Amino acid sequence: MTIYRDMRPSELDDVIDLIDLSFGGMRPNGALSKTYGPEPNQPARHVVAEDETTGRLLAVAAMYPQTLSVAGHTLHAWFLGVVGVHPRHRGEGHMQGVVNLLQQEARDAGDVDLLVLWGLRHRYAYFGYTPFGYEYSYGMNGSDVKHALASVDADDVAFRPLFDEPGDVEIAQRLNDARTVHVERDGAYLDRTLAHLRSDALAAVRGGEVLGYLTRDRRNPSQVHEVALFDPRDAGAVMKAYWTSLQPRGLDSFDLRISPTDVGLNEQLSIFSEGASVENLTQCDILDYAAMIEAYLAAANESWGVEPGRFSAVLDGQPVTVTVADGAVHAERVADDDAPRLDKADAQTLLGGLCARYRRDLPHTPAGWFPLPVSWYWSDLN
Ligand SMILES: CC(C)(COP(=O)(O)OP(=O)(O)OC[C@H]1O[C@@H](n2cnc3c(N)ncnc32)[C@H](O)[C@@H]1OP(=O)(O)O)[C@@H](O)C(=O)NCCC(=O)NCCS
Repeated sequence: MTIYRDMRPSELDDVIDLIDLSFGGMRPNGALSKTYGPEPNQPARHVVAEDETTGRLLAVAAMYPQTLSVAGHTLHAWFLGVVGVHPRHRGEGHMQGVVNLLQQEARDAGDVDLLVLWGLRHRYAYFGYTPFGYEYSYGMNGSDVKHALASVDADDVAFRPLFDEPGDVEIAQRLNDARTVHVERDGAYLDRTLAHLRSDALAAVRGGEVLGYLTRDRRNPSQVHEVALFDPRDAGAVMKAYWTSLQPRGLDSFDLRISPTDVGLNEQLSIFSEGASVENLTQCDILDYAAMIEAYLAAANESWGVEPGRFSAVLDGQPVTVTVADGAVHAERVADDDAPRLDKADAQTLLGGLCARYRRDLPHTPAGWFPLPVSWYWSDLN
């Protein structure tokens, strides 16, 4: 008999070993050190599957609570991660056991607006998640530097490890807080947050002044995960200097991901990068539709302005009427008598699906409202 229950604090080391084993030696203390490194670290809620006869732990899953600041609105998310089953006990239903228990705990908590994860789409569709939101990926290469950035002076821009200097934590904190949409990050372990999943964080410096920072994959520096600059107009110089820094490694190009609501960076990159693609990384299970729409539509309105209009529907049983008028977004928990009724998968796809516009069976909505600009930076995954 297997029981599914909350992890006891005394089991944390065993759970870290189980995560390590399930994920083929991923070393959670290093790769996920914002949670599994030395305290203080990111709070987490773990559940386990226990073989009642032997007392052995067979499976684990965790939720990492996040506070999202979205155009002045506060949303509460739980990020699902480290879903792992002992290699000798797969296919016995333990993933379903631990994920279902966490999902139930999130619903019981009462104040959770959304659940989010990063994983195989159809594996998590069983649990109510659908692909949700998007981000832009820009490519930078030698041609961009040679032609579009020819007149940009980048000789005096240099990179050094972020967090080497006093005040770096405050700088990184301020840059994150200034984003229209951001996950609130705790300064007590911000260095490990930006080192998440084997990343390096570099400060971009000009004449002793920090222009901002970028994070990149430690083993593949042509993958830039995040850029934050005090003045986005420095993006050309910083990108040119970063490209130049890759030359001794024989790398001629790099890619970087930008959240759709980081308006200044998107504006700059769209002017000089080689090209852009739109990607989706995360999947969501929405628990409060009105809160989600009001916050993220406000973020879109603030970032590029959305068309005035009104939309009323019953989304997974929740009545919602949203109005954009006089530059303001307002959501109410009521619906018109004849409002369309959407099941959970369709409701989430309408709001967050990248290609939902091709779904002619979904209700018509005011132009440009959806998909909502929902996005997570690499450091905030898990
Ligand atoms: C992925 C993993 C957790 C699955 O564990 P498991 O014990 O085989 O899971 P279960 O027995 O509960 O489910 C088995 C299958 O049933 C499927 N399933 C889940 N709910 C279902 C449902 N209601 N109806 C039908 N099938 C269902 C699942 O999709 C899963 O298939 P998949 O492994 O191809 O995705 C396990 O293989 C593992 O630990 N892998 C390594 C770590 C990893 O990759 N974790 C996932 C990170 S996103």
